[in-house]
Amino acid sequence: MKNRFLFVLAMLAIGASPALSQTLSFEVAKTESCGCCQGWVEHIRAAGHQVETSDMDFDSLAKHKTNLGIKPQHASCHTATVDGYVIEGHVPVADIERLLKLRPQAIGLSAPGMPAGSPGMEMGTYREAYDVVLVKLDGTSEVWSHYEEKQ
Ligand code: CU
Ligand code: CU
Repeated sequence: MKNRFLFVLAMLAIGASPALSQTLSFEVAKTESCGCCQGWVEHIRAAGHQVETSDMDFDSLAKHKTNLGIKPQHASCHTATVDGYVIEGHVPVADIERLLKLRPQAIGLSAPGMPAGSPGMEMGTYREAYDVVLVKLDGTSEVWSHYEEKQ
Protein backbone atom coordinates (compact mmCIF):
# COMPACT_ATOMS: atom_id res chain seq x y z
CA MET A 1 0.00 0.00 0.00
CA LYS A 2 2.71 2.42 1.00
CA ASN A 3 4.85 1.30 -1.93
CA ARG A 4 2.02 1.96 -4.27
CA PHE A 5 1.58 5.44 -2.88
CA LEU A 6 5.29 6.14 -3.42
CA PHE A 7 5.03 4.81 -6.95
CA VAL A 8 2.18 7.21 -7.73
CA LEU A 9 4.16 10.07 -6.24
CA ALA A 10 7.14 9.17 -8.38
CA MET A 11 5.02 9.08 -11.52
CA LEU A 12 3.53 12.47 -10.67
CA ALA A 13 6.99 13.90 -10.16
CA ILE A 14 8.10 12.66 -13.56
CA GLY A 15 5.03 14.12 -15.23
CA ALA A 16 5.33 17.44 -13.45
CA SER A 17 8.94 18.15 -14.34
CA PRO A 18 9.44 18.61 -18.05
CA ALA A 19 13.16 17.98 -17.58
CA LEU A 20 14.52 18.72 -20.98
CA SER A 21 15.67 15.30 -22.01
CA GLN A 22 14.25 15.90 -25.45
CA THR A 23 16.49 16.52 -28.42
CA LEU A 24 16.24 20.05 -29.74
CA SER A 25 16.69 20.97 -33.40
CA PHE A 26 18.74 24.07 -34.09
CA GLU A 27 19.21 25.93 -37.33
CA VAL A 28 22.32 28.05 -37.30
CA ALA A 29 23.10 30.84 -39.74
CA LYS A 30 26.74 31.91 -39.84
CA THR A 31 29.48 33.00 -42.17
CA GLU A 32 31.57 30.30 -43.76
CA SER A 33 34.92 31.19 -42.20
CA CYS A 34 33.66 31.57 -38.62
CA GLY A 35 35.64 29.16 -36.44
CA CYS A 36 34.03 30.18 -33.15
CA CYS A 37 30.58 29.60 -34.69
CA GLN A 38 31.61 26.04 -35.45
CA GLY A 39 32.90 25.74 -31.87
CA TRP A 40 29.49 26.73 -30.54
CA VAL A 41 27.78 24.25 -32.89
CA GLU A 42 29.97 21.50 -31.40
CA HIS A 43 28.97 22.65 -27.88
CA ILE A 44 25.29 22.22 -28.78
CA ARG A 45 25.87 18.84 -30.44
CA ALA A 46 27.87 17.64 -27.44
CA ALA A 47 24.75 18.23 -25.32
CA GLY A 48 22.87 15.81 -27.59
CA HIS A 49 20.98 18.29 -29.76
CA GLN A 50 20.67 18.45 -33.53
CA VAL A 51 22.16 21.30 -35.51
CA GLU A 52 21.87 22.26 -39.15
CA THR A 53 24.04 25.09 -40.35
CA SER A 54 23.80 27.38 -43.31
CA ASP A 55 26.53 29.73 -44.44
CA MET A 56 25.67 33.25 -45.57
CA ASP A 57 27.63 36.29 -46.57
CA PHE A 58 27.97 38.98 -43.95
CA ASP A 59 25.21 41.26 -45.34
CA SER A 60 22.65 38.46 -45.62
CA LEU A 61 23.45 37.38 -42.09
CA ALA A 62 22.98 40.95 -40.83
CA LYS A 63 19.59 41.09 -42.58
CA HIS A 64 18.67 37.71 -41.14
CA LYS A 65 19.37 39.03 -37.62
CA THR A 66 17.28 42.16 -38.24
CA ASN A 67 14.40 40.10 -39.62
CA LEU A 68 14.44 37.95 -36.50
CA GLY A 69 14.33 40.99 -34.19
CA ILE A 70 17.95 41.05 -33.07
CA LYS A 71 19.11 44.63 -32.59
CA PRO A 72 22.76 45.68 -33.09
CA GLN A 73 23.35 45.93 -29.33
CA HIS A 74 22.40 42.25 -28.97
CA ALA A 75 24.20 40.99 -32.06
CA SER A 76 27.02 38.47 -32.15
CA CYS A 77 28.47 36.24 -34.87
CA HIS A 78 26.03 33.38 -35.55
CA THR A 79 22.23 33.39 -35.26
CA ALA A 80 20.35 30.23 -34.33
CA THR A 81 16.68 29.40 -34.18
CA VAL A 82 15.20 26.65 -32.05
CA ASP A 83 11.58 25.86 -31.32
CA GLY A 84 10.29 29.38 -31.99
CA TYR A 85 13.15 31.23 -30.30
CA VAL A 86 16.21 33.04 -31.59
CA ILE A 87 19.58 32.29 -29.98
CA GLU A 88 22.17 34.92 -30.84
CA GLY A 89 25.84 34.19 -30.30
CA HIS A 90 27.71 32.06 -27.78
CA VAL A 91 24.87 31.23 -25.39
CA PRO A 92 25.58 28.20 -23.14
CA VAL A 93 23.27 25.26 -23.80
CA ALA A 94 22.00 25.21 -20.19
CA ASP A 95 20.52 28.69 -20.68
CA ILE A 96 18.73 27.51 -23.81
CA GLU A 97 17.34 24.42 -22.11
CA ARG A 98 16.02 26.60 -19.28
CA LEU A 99 14.45 28.95 -21.85
CA LEU A 100 12.59 26.08 -23.48
CA LYS A 101 11.46 24.75 -20.13
CA LEU A 102 10.11 28.12 -18.90
CA ARG A 103 8.99 29.39 -22.32
CA PRO A 104 8.74 33.11 -21.56
CA GLN A 105 7.17 35.41 -24.14
CA ALA A 106 10.34 36.64 -25.80
CA ILE A 107 12.34 36.70 -28.99
CA GLY A 108 15.06 34.60 -27.44
CA LEU A 109 18.48 34.77 -25.83
CA SER A 110 21.67 36.56 -26.71
CA ALA A 111 25.26 36.65 -25.52
CA PRO A 112 26.07 40.04 -27.07
CA GLY A 113 29.48 40.42 -28.67
CA MET A 114 31.89 37.52 -28.37
CA PRO A 115 32.65 36.93 -24.69
CA ALA A 116 36.00 35.23 -24.11
CA GLY A 117 35.52 31.89 -22.41
CA SER A 118 31.93 31.37 -23.55
CA PRO A 119 31.14 28.12 -25.43
CA GLY A 120 33.02 28.22 -28.74
CA MET A 121 35.19 31.10 -27.48
CA GLU A 122 37.43 29.06 -25.19
CA MET A 123 40.71 30.67 -24.18
CA GLY A 124 42.33 28.09 -21.94
CA THR A 125 40.65 28.36 -18.58
CA TYR A 126 40.07 32.11 -18.82
CA ARG A 127 36.54 33.50 -18.92
CA GLU A 128 35.59 37.14 -18.90
CA ALA A 129 32.47 38.16 -16.98
CA TYR A 130 29.45 38.27 -19.27
CA ASP A 131 25.69 38.21 -19.30
CA VAL A 132 23.28 36.17 -21.33
CA VAL A 133 20.22 38.34 -21.89
CA LEU A 134 16.60 37.57 -22.62
CA VAL A 135 15.58 39.61 -25.66
CA LYS A 136 11.96 40.56 -25.16
CA LEU A 137 9.27 41.07 -27.78
CA ASP A 138 9.65 44.87 -27.62
CA GLY A 139 13.38 44.55 -28.36
CA THR A 140 14.52 45.41 -24.84
CA SER A 141 16.41 42.89 -22.76
CA GLU A 142 16.95 41.69 -19.22
CA VAL A 143 19.67 39.54 -17.70
CA TRP A 144 18.92 35.83 -18.05
CA SER A 145 22.11 34.60 -16.46
CA HIS A 146 25.42 36.04 -15.38
CA TYR A 147 28.82 34.40 -15.68
CA GLU A 148 31.61 35.50 -13.37
CA GLU A 149 35.14 36.13 -14.49
CA LYS A 150 37.38 33.08 -14.15
CA GLN A 151 41.17 33.14 -14.40
CU1 CU B 1 31.68 33.85 -32.35
CU1 CU C 1 29.45 32.39 -34.02
